[in-house]
Amino acid sequence: MPELKAPIGTRDVLPPDSARWRRFVGVFAEVVGAAGYGQVVTPIFEELAVFHRIGEATEIVTKEMYDFEDKGGRRMALRPEGTAGVVRAFVEHRPATPWKVWYTGPNFRYEKAQKGRYRQFDQVGIEVLGADDPYCDVEVIALAWQFYAALGLRQVRLLVNSLGDAGDRGRYAAALAEHFESYGDALTPESRHTLQRNPLRVLDSKRPDDRPMIEAAPLMGDFLSAAAAEHFEVVLGGLRALGIPFTVAPRLVRGLDYYRRTTFEFAAEALDAAQNAVGGGGRYDGLVEEMGGPATPGIGFALGVDRTLLACDAEGVFGLPAADLDAFVVDTTGGATALALTAELRAAGLRVDRAFDNRSMKSQMKAADRSGAAVALIVGSDELAAGTVVVRPLRGGGDQVAVPRDHVIDHVVRTGATPTP
Ligand code: HAM
Repeated sequence: MPELKAPIGTRDVLPPDSARWRRFVGVFAEVVGAAGYGQVVTPIFEELAVFHRIGEATEIVTKEMYDFEDKGGRRMALRPEGTAGVVRAFVEHRPATPWKVWYTGPNFRYEKAQKGRYRQFDQVGIEVLGADDPYCDVEVIALAWQFYAALGLRQVRLLVNSLGDAGDRGRYAAALAEHFESYGDALTPESRHTLQRNPLRVLDSKRPDDRPMIEAAPLMGDFLSAAAAEHFEVVLGGLRALGIPFTVAPRLVRGLDYYRRTTFEFAAEALDAAQNAVGGGGRYDGLVEEMGGPATPGIGFALGVDRTLLACDAEGVFGLPAADLDAFVVDTTGGATALALTAELRAAGLRVDRAFDNRSMKSQMKAADRSGAAVALIVGSDELAAGTVVVRPLRGGGDQVAVPRDHVIDHVVRTGATPTP
């Protein structure tokens, strides 16, 4: 039989790494939960039409989407990002505004897989629907910033830009098209192709031959309406007031079409430039209407879990959580004592594992060491006869003691383990 493997661009997350993953989402939930955001869970697949609304001129939608026909003949797609589904849910349920939600889960893009760029990748993110206030933009950006700080990341750079209102963006796109077309064939063929579909995306070209033309291109800032320019100024003022350092990046265009006004990205300087975007977001006023809802402004961000963890590795922060088992039960007398003792300890709120299959003392002790538990609770034939259990410290030294069977829980609690409620 051919060897079966996880598909290209996907990975298995195994213990102990999965514990770190879970803690990552836990820290995020705490940071945004403390600011009034509630969790929203939307389907991993939606009708294809939902995603067409987020960018028919973007590669994420035209080239990279996992779309398929279901057995009922409906056109569906795996979500390439989280915002579209959240907005669809908002339109469907019409919750009171401002609606502040957070989410986590996998997304799917048929990308060229490499380190930090996957076909299935997880995000954590927030969205706020129904608030136009520039200080809401500041809150959203500040929460991402606070989360990175909570992980211990120090080398994250915030880039901000304003893409103006729909009219501004259109005028800017036309000016960019004129600018790039004036160079004729000097632009790379890939960028000429992009130019036809979406002139803004040419600014994202990393090809060196395009560089001089991109550097000479007109800037979005010169095309902002007075209202959009003022909104942007208030956002920047709010970031300054909170002491969040930022760089205005006038050529920052995001990979999705729905953005208006404030847009931002977080770059992890400890990672290679090709995949150093650890998060990004912005305003998407207009998207709710596109999905058939009432005129409602929106803003949010999503952070890549995989990439942010790579950034943590590169900075040596947010390591694996310490093993947190309180005890490991070793029983060489047939297992009945381990069965009872484990059940009692767990009922008392302790974290306890045990060996199975009545293995040798040596083999069970090896398993106890590997488990990372604070103590081994050992029952051999002598202990069984005497009605005792040997408590042997596995971490941090100390002598082993024989404890009467009835006092084991008290002893384990007293000597360091904390029962969980
Ligand atoms: P995005 O910039 O496409 O925005 O993705 C956000 C983050 O997801 C990226 O900064 C990156 O960390 C991670 N990411 C994206 N693609 C991949 C990939 N192939 N492999 C690994 N990580 C990846 C959005 O998705 C928007 N929905 C963000 C948003 C929310 N805007 C408004 N609200």
